[in-house]
Amino acid sequence: MLDDPTRQSLIDAAIAVRAHAHAPYSHFHVGAAVLDEQGRIHAGCNVENAAYPVSQCAEATALGVMVAAGGRRARALVVVGHASGGAWVTPCGGCRQRLREFADPDTPVLIVGAQGLQATLTLDELLPHSFGPDHLSST
Ligand code: THU
Repeated sequence: MLDDPTRQSLIDAAIAVRAHAHAPYSHFHVGAAVLDEQGRIHAGCNVENAAYPVSQCAEATALGVMVAAGGRRARALVVVGHASGGAWVTPCGGCRQRLREFADPDTPVLIVGAQGLQATLTLDELLPHSFGPDHLSST
């Protein structure tokens, strides 16, 4: 599904937007990019706030940008961060649920670190036994 040029474009977009992260408190810069059902790429960075809990993750920004642009399905998501020791920067629990709203169980989530692509996980691997919109559609 995710051809090589598209994968690379997604990664490039996430790397580029990471440079705009507003992270004066954690100093941990994150970029994310989502591919929508129209083949468009939407990018977002983390946006921290002096009132710490109000801070927003890069994935939340990217998904919000997608929705604002009229995108309704996330076909792939890339997260870029440079964690200490080269650990994977995977979406936080809240962002896994945010992605669940717009993605399928097999939607790929690509984890990119300082040295490049580290892992490709599915949404279902990140958020098994999840609750989503389908749970609300029948009585
Ligand atoms: N952060 C993200 O934006 N995405 C992740 O997947 C992990 C964490 C942000 C939130 C906060 O601004 C900073 O990284 C440190 O947690």
